[in-house]
Amino acid sequence: MNILAFESTCDETAVALVRDGRTVLSDAIASQVDMHTLYGGVVPEIASRKHVEAIAGLADRALADAGLTRADVDAVAVSYAPGLIGAVLVGVNFAKSVALALGVPLIPVHHIRGHIAANYIAHPDLEPPFVCLCVSGGNTLIADVRSYTDMTVMGATRDDAAGECFDKAARVLGIGYPGGAPMDRLAQGGDDTMYELPRSHVEGHPLDMSFSGLKTAVLNLLHNAQQKGEDLNGPGLAASFQRAVSDILVPRVMEAVRQKGYGKLAVAGGVGANSRIRSDLEKVCKEQGIALYLPPLSLCGDNGAMVGSQGYYEYLAGHTADSALNAYANRDLGLG
Ligand code: KG4
Repeated sequence: MNILAFESTCDETAVALVRDGRTVLSDAIASQVDMHTLYGGVVPEIASRKHVEAIAGLADRALADAGLTRADVDAVAVSYAPGLIGAVLVGVNFAKSVALALGVPLIPVHHIRGHIAANYIAHPDLEPPFVCLCVSGGNTLIADVRSYTDMTVMGATRDDAAGECFDKAARVLGIGYPGGAPMDRLAQGGDDTMYELPRSHVEGHPLDMSFSGLKTAVLNLLHNAQQKGEDLNGPGLAASFQRAVSDILVPRVMEAVRQKGYGKLAVAGGVGANSRIRSDLEKVCKEQGIALYLPPLSLCGDNGAMVGSQGYYEYLAGHTADSALNAYANRDLGLG
């Protein structure tokens, strides 16, 4: 089954063709990062307009790259939640029109379920059940993936997402947007014990997380240093920061893995590209005999292939929509 999949929830427009959930025939992406960099963050209005400009051309390119024609498309899938609402609406409306024009089913895909499904593309042997750490620019949660389409949130951030925390800390340090990858590079060779940074706990909810205090701590460090006329050690601060983020994420996800007893852990989302988080998880999973599934860096960030993969399993479960499908800024992972 060939699924034409659309992704437009944030600042990447992506259209992919995926066969039977696991084989990527093409994945065309237009990133808007250069534009948003000028403003130090995503400007929602610009994001929507850029999606409008890019999406039709990308759909043609995805078909051409796959060597297919419109007649070969069996269904259309689209990320319909969560995300920047104006941005998501572009993908949803375009996908609805394509499904209508081609006379094929329309499949709504929860964006985070898509991130999780990136692992099905990267790891042909991976099947639910497993626990998944989903860490992106807009969301941070631990999912109990009981089946391809039955999943619940075991714990989540109460405030900022991990990626948001990376981006804001990086902005304070003046190392660019989006800040995760530059922060990761800056941290290489830095002393991760140089700065004391907080690891917060949510009273009574051991799997929940909080990142806003960490972000504020970086800001305070910078202000204090400026007041004293001192320089901060960039690599030391970046390494200490990454260690703090990892110290918040890793014990919680390993506790979730212990509770579920599946013996399998997957990672999903843009922050899943972080070298410190990856190596800490590799170490602890090896010690505890847990099978760890890390997507390649190319599948950590937003892409269309992940939507096509999850779309296949949603279709098999009978989850299709009609032209009344709407877009949502927020939506529980469990609802799909
Ligand atoms: O999954 P994604 O592409 O978009 C959302 O769905 O939100 O994630 C983007 C986030 C950004 O916050 C970016 O700074 C972060 O992923 N990111 C990283 C790294 N590469 C990207 N964060 C930490 N370390 C990285 N190497």
